[in-house]
Amino acid sequence: MEVKTVGVAGCGTMGSGIVITCAQSGYRVIVSEINDQLLSKGLASINSFLTKSVEKGKMSAQDKKTVYGRIKGTTSTADFGTCDLVIEAAIENMDLKKRIFADLDKVSPKHAILATNTSCLSIIDAAVVTARPDKVLGLHFFNPAPIMKLVEIVRTIVTSDDTFETARKFVESLNKTVVTAKDTPGFIVNRLMVPQLLNAVRILETGTATREDIDKAVSLGLNHPMGPLGLSDLVGIDVVCLIAKAMYDDTKDPQFIIPTLMNKMVAAGWLGRKTGKGFYDYS
Ligand SMILES: NC(=O)c1ccc[n+]([C@@H]2O[C@H](COP(=O)([O-])OP(=O)(O)OC[C@H]3O[C@@H](n4cnc5c(N)ncnc54)[C@H](O)[C@@H]3O)[C@@H](O)[C@H]2O)c1
Repeated sequence: MEVKTVGVAGCGTMGSGIVITCAQSGYRVIVSEINDQLLSKGLASINSFLTKSVEKGKMSAQDKKTVYGRIKGTTSTADFGTCDLVIEAAIENMDLKKRIFADLDKVSPKHAILATNTSCLSIIDAAVVTARPDKVLGLHFFNPAPIMKLVEIVRTIVTSDDTFETARKFVESLNKTVVTAKDTPGFIVNRLMVPQLLNAVRILETGTATREDIDKAVSLGLNHPMGPLGLSDLVGIDVVCLIAKAMYDDTKDPQFIIPTLMNKMVAAGWLGRKTGKGFYDYS
């Protein structure tokens, strides 16, 4: 099966980036949000990313028009009826993802592949609410999706070879590198990254070092492009906590226990860049 039209459910941080990535590679993209206000916000962030690309000389104004013209926004799941592949990018909550997968299964063509961009949740749990569990897998893009080169393809124990091969060809057509992982909590990258983010917060909590020195130590000592506290602000403190909680619930491994400071930050609405304050101030 050849993918021509891609659906993306959710136009937040990841959904908007995935839409841009697909449209830039020539796919028609239909993106959904829960209401007109959030849809307009998501489409505006896509437009702003493309405008900045023109300003930086990375794309012509005509190319921007062509790419943006491939994108259609909707608040109705029924509009996914022409999609060959739908990527769910709603928040990290399995009950919500199950409801979305049940809806997608009803409206998507029989041949369509249903994928989730979940960071760590059990993909088989979403697959079994559909009548096509063999056509369900994880396509885990990284933030920011148009720039990051990697996509983890996550196979459940029932994902078919055909589904995997179609997904692999699709991801490679986006000029991304594929790694394959089994359907286990956090797959490869988050299994490694989440404990590091949480440990950085523990180092901060115990007063061992300042936020700046923790980030500097990791960027310069481990040669990472960003330090863990700045990265947590980029990902979203709430998102990191949801991922850590899901990984703890699944594994009961104490390395995934959320540090108290992060729970307090979520309660205070200090969610990182998206709210203007996290470990750093962005106001
Ligand atoms: N933020 C990251 O760095 C990152 C990286 C990789 C993967 N992820 C994963 O990607 C997914 C999305 O994360 P995000 O950071 O983009 O979250 P986000 O909160 O920025 O965006 C989620 C969007 O989904 C929308 N939504 C909720 N229910 C919906 C529905 N029924 N239909 C359509 N839209 C709906 C919300 O209104 C919201 O705008 C999560 O599963 C997350 O774990 C996040």
